[in-house]
Amino acid sequence: MEQKVLPLSLEKPAKEKSAKVSYNSRHSSLDRLNQSQEVGNWEMDYKGLFSERLDLYKLTTFSPNKLLPLHSWYPYLQGFSAQLVELLLDHFKADKTHKVLDPWCGVGTTNLSCAQKGIYSFGIDISPLAIFIAKTKLNGIPSEYDLRNTIHRLQSRLASAHLIVKSSKFDIVNRCIPAETLSKLDFLKIAIRRIRREKLKNLLFLALLISLEQLSTLQKDGAHYKFRYEPKRKDVWPLFNEILNWMSNSGELFRRSFKVVSKKADIRVGDSRSLEGILSKSINFVITSPPYLNRDNYIAQNKLELMFGDFVKDFSDYRKLTHSTLRSHVEAFSEKFKDKVKVPQLNNYLQILWERRDMLNNNQVISMTEGYFIDLNISLKEIYRVLKRGGRVALVVGNSCWADVLIEVDKMIVEIAYKLGFKPEAIWVTRYKLNSAQQIASYGKRMLRESIVFLKKP
Ligand SMILES: C[S@@+](CC[C@H](N)C(=O)[O-])C[C@H]1O[C@@H](n2cnc3c(N)ncnc32)[C@H](O)[C@@H]1O
Repeated sequence: MEQKVLPLSLEKPAKEKSAKVSYNSRHSSLDRLNQSQEVGNWEMDYKGLFSERLDLYKLTTFSPNKLLPLHSWYPYLQGFSAQLVELLLDHFKADKTHKVLDPWCGVGTTNLSCAQKGIYSFGIDISPLAIFIAKTKLNGIPSEYDLRNTIHRLQSRLASAHLIVKSSKFDIVNRCIPAETLSKLDFLKIAIRRIRREKLKNLLFLALLISLEQLSTLQKDGAHYKFRYEPKRKDVWPLFNEILNWMSNSGELFRRSFKVVSKKADIRVGDSRSLEGILSKSINFVITSPPYLNRDNYIAQNKLELMFGDFVKDFSDYRKLTHSTLRSHVEAFSEKFKDKVKVPQLNNYLQILWERRDMLNNNQVISMTEGYFIDLNISLKEIYRVLKRGGRVALVVGNSCWADVLIEVDKMIVEIAYKLGFKPEAIWVTRYKLNSAQQIASYGKRMLRESIVFLKKP
């Protein structure tokens, strides 16, 4: 279905026209924080809120997790680090009596870090793959004996199997995994599914999913993915075995390093816009990072694992999942979420983007931008509902730039949250990131802030 290009608020203009905006397309790249204030119609005074914490830059990325047991199992490009969660838990003075929520939990970095400190947590994510990974990490590893026995049995069954070459119902799976490899992977998938012990079964299944990146020509890359000429590895068993050994050693290291590990976490597939099942006024702290308004499609990036792993039934199910995600990319649209965002600055942004629509390489960016803030507004309303009085929130977010219009997501969140009753506490700027090479070529260098926004429910 074609998405509407005209943003809702421009179709039905508000009675009161938003303040006229002057927009200067040539900002100085050094003008960092003040860069876009000329596009601003802000209610809050930001001087007291902003502070620079550039020392935290690395921690807001997934990269430090690559060196940590368990966290490193599945590299999630959009994730943040366990160290950041620990720092935020300390900042909030969280202890074992508290409850933490991550409504965009991804592969469960927040939940695993909470578990290490014996803190109960909830995790919600729209991706069934991300939830499977998060749960498997939290369950830890089975006994060495069980694992070795099962690996041994699987290996001898695979060696003596008469493999049937069958194609997948998903074209992309057939296109990027050689037929012989796919038949071995399918054999292992079916054999693993027959295992009764959940912990063991899930660990083996995750190892199989992890092997896909190297056994296929598909490679995660920036906003989407690209194709290699040929797979990095061709032999299924040696790679699968290596991954399992690495996971088992890493799990053992984790067990030894963290004596007090509470397995208590409630992690499930869900939507940040309706946190069903989480009681009102039950949460002390929210530590999270919503999808950035950068057109990254998390579902497409992980489509191979989602499809091979049968997390989606067929292509239409896959499309439905893509559509249902937060509107941070142009493939998402949620007809049912239409709440008005009462922040005048949103109209300013939409107005300028509309005027510059010929400069956008995809003018669905306009409805995406509107949808993004509608979705954040609804999600923040839900977060407000589930928080206890005095509860605090830390949101890791990034600003965006379209046709040289700088969208200050951190300030927008503060304005939206303020209208919902939150008290904005601080904005820590952790990084200034350059706009894309394509945008630099057209408009010059722009600095995009990445920040942590702190809010409190009074
Ligand atoms: C920035 S990532 C969070 C990564 C996480 N902090 C980690 O370390 O793994 C944002 C997550 O939001 C999820 N997401 C997108 N739309 C959602 C929605 N409507 N409700 C809940 N989660 C959603 C994506 O699947 C993605 O995992």
